[in-house]
Amino acid sequence: MSDNETINTIKNRRAIRDYDTSKDVPDELIYKIIEAGGYAPSAENQQPWRVIVVRDKELQKFIGQAAVDRTILLFGRATPREELERRLSYIKSKASLERTIDILISGERFEYIKGEPETNGAPVLLVLAVDQTHVGNSQPTLRGTGGVYGWSSPRHAVIAGSMMMQNMALAAASLGIGSCVSSVQLDHFDDVGAVSERLNIPSPHWVPILCLTLGYPLAERTLGPPRQMPEEIAFLDKWGQPFAKEGKE
Ligand SMILES: Cc1cc2nc3c(=O)[nH]c(=O)nc-3n(C[C@H](O)[C@H](O)[C@H](O)COP(=O)(O)O)c2cc1C
Repeated sequence: MSDNETINTIKNRRAIRDYDTSKDVPDELIYKIIEAGGYAPSAENQQPWRVIVVRDKELQKFIGQAAVDRTILLFGRATPREELERRLSYIKSKASLERTIDILISGERFEYIKGEPETNGAPVLLVLAVDQTHVGNSQPTLRGTGGVYGWSSPRHAVIAGSMMMQNMALAAASLGIGSCVSSVQLDHFDDVGAVSERLNIPSPHWVPILCLTLGYPLAERTLGPPRQMPEEIAFLDKWGQPFAKEGKE
């Protein structure tokens, strides 16, 4: 069975980390992207998300620097090089593998978030925050009881927020706009606190969980990291029992 337009968009979306800085993304397209994001499902349709459109260069630089600094700590200091080689072993060319590791451990790979023209940075940065208390616990009668969903309210918020984020990335791709989801600058409590403070995000109920850079790609990028096929990731009825291959009777 051939792929339709939606599936093609899903398969061809790539993480874009080099942007054409001569082209801005107009607000009307950003509006469309966020609107599409808002059509994502959420528990009880509570839509526990807010998006901050960051156009201010100083703010972009601050958030991007948090990504660079955290990457240096995470990949440059805390992760042994052999571990990075193992994780990136799908890169077959030795030279590309070495280069990828070098730009990871130096933080260079995440310069694009700063939005600077010299490093082909993204003109627009979206910050997605979710309401951790949105189901159950936000109702006064349930507060303190664990709520309808108990401890899982923050989890539901992150799940819904992730679906919202994917909608935005796909909507952007369908409009010819490149994007890259990033979390590294929000992976540590200190960074979450610092970013929340700079953007006036009302902590602790609202938490920024992901960013999405937006911009026109500097170059077309169709090839991405390989994907596992359904026969590798899907089971039939019980774990370990293979699910039929495409076209198999
Ligand atoms: C939850 C999440 C966090 C991610 N964090 C980062 C990040 O911090 N920086 C970055 O450049 N890319 C980040 N990515 C993008 C992935 O690296 C990328 O989507 C993945 O390698 C697959 O490549 P593709 O999107 O081109 O298919 C993240 C993606 C997800 C879903």
